[in-house]
Amino acid sequence: MASRTPLVGIVVGSASDWEMMREATKQLTDFSVPYEAKVLSAHRSPDALAEWVERLSAKGVRCFIAGAGGAAHLAGVIAAKTTVPVLGVPMPSKYLQGLDSLLAIVQMPKGIPVATFAIGEAGAANAGLFAVAMLAQGDAKLAERLAQFRASQAEAVKSAKLPD
Ligand code: RP5
Repeated sequence: MASRTPLVGIVVGSASDWEMMREATKQLTDFSVPYEAKVLSAHRSPDALAEWVERLSAKGVRCFIAGAGGAAHLAGVIAAKTTVPVLGVPMPSKYLQGLDSLLAIVQMPKGIPVATFAIGEAGAANAGLFAVAMLAQGDAKLAERLAQFRASQAEAVKSAKLPD
């Protein structure tokens, strides 16, 4: 999805976060939503992060998805730099299993919001689906595909068989 103008900017604080964040890209790819993905750190490469956020915001990106672990300030720093909505995904961490990341992202002080998702793969996938839902507000075809996706999930539940 890199060749079209990106509608979503995805960023992780470290390449070690990518395995989790790939779940967000899978959702966007399934719905043919173009995105640009980067590794950029709020503390290791703050200037490059600011430049990227400004460039994508100017290009008309519709939201950012940011995944980071530990003292996870990446999403908050992005939200401080743009009025484009920021979706934060807490990454599992070595010693606190991502509880630190969750609290860091969800506890944004009043005035600069970050929408916070679950820790790990489910949060990353849901951030991707949430981005699709936001984009579907102005795109009837995408809204129809999202409705079909929801219907297919309902069908899977109805036809699920329990083991004997
Ligand atoms: C954070 O520190 C990253 O988002 C990552 O989750 C965590 C560990 O990074 P590495 O030491 O693996 O690069 O900045």
